[in-house]
Amino acid sequence: MDGMRLDGRVAVVTGGAGAIGSAIAADLTALGARVVVADVDLRGAEKVAAGLPGSVPQAVDLAAPESVERFCAACRDAAGGVDILVHNAGVSIVELFTSSDPANWDLMWQVNLRGPMLMTKLLLPGMMARGWGRLVFVSSDGARAGSGGEGAYAATKAGLFGLAKTLAREAARANVTSNVVCPGPTDTPMLQRVSAAEPGLVERIARTIPLRRLGTPADVAGLVAYLCTERAAYVTGQTLSVSGGVTMH
Ligand SMILES: NC(=O)c1ccc[n+]([C@@H]2O[C@H](COP(=O)([O-])OP(=O)(O)OC[C@H]3O[C@@H](n4cnc5c(N)ncnc54)[C@H](O)[C@@H]3O)[C@@H](O)[C@H]2O)c1
Repeated sequence: MDGMRLDGRVAVVTGGAGAIGSAIAADLTALGARVVVADVDLRGAEKVAAGLPGSVPQAVDLAAPESVERFCAACRDAAGGVDILVHNAGVSIVELFTSSDPANWDLMWQVNLRGPMLMTKLLLPGMMARGWGRLVFVSSDGARAGSGGEGAYAATKAGLFGLAKTLAREAARANVTSNVVCPGPTDTPMLQRVSAAEPGLVERIARTIPLRRLGTPADVAGLVAYLCTERAAYVTGQTLSVSGGVTMH
């Protein structure tokens, strides 16, 4: 199919060592992109990159501005710039809002929103100068619909909506698109840990989903990869859920 290849493009996937991030890195590699697997967990990033031809692992701590600055400088020096930036890294600390710890709000704000803002500020000018780029922000259906125990997390993830739409407007003339992908409940180690502590939880969640199953990392990666291609050149400023129909907007 024309317009689906990403040969010659350089893509950064943050949280690339994780469940969804590694699936995104694999799909972008399969389409021909050279992927920078970026994660605070360098060992994990190395393992993922080892299985993906042409990809490279790179450490970055989104909670530390100087680390983000070093990372972006290294990307510019080594790869000559970044064409595709997938903001997938995220942390979720589940606690009822009234008893939540503001120190946890700070960590989620730094990793989920401030880090992506800084990285975009540093890498978007290069995309705009070259006249082509893709920004994809991985948010959460928890931010669209609310999610018990995830108030601060949802607030940081909802911040991505406003950021992505504003960037869609500001960068459109430079042929850079900016979109948000919201996974619903996705079968990842994170969810498996929660369900181990609460037997039957996954089954109960699945019954509320019209497609009657949890999402997979590949379900999310497929949409992210599409948004990075030329086929999606006319799609910008959108927020799309990958949730089996549990949220319909
Ligand atoms: N799993 C789900 O059900 C679900 C649902 C909705 C949204 N999401 C979102 O999808 C994204 C991926 O989630 P996942 O399930 O693959 O989780 P995951 O924990 O497997 O992956 C997250 C990755 O982010 C990395 N990371 C954490 N802190 C970082 C930091 N300071 N700097 C750089 N990297 C850091 C982790 O090392 C990890 O590799 C996250 O943004 C998450 O909020 C997941």
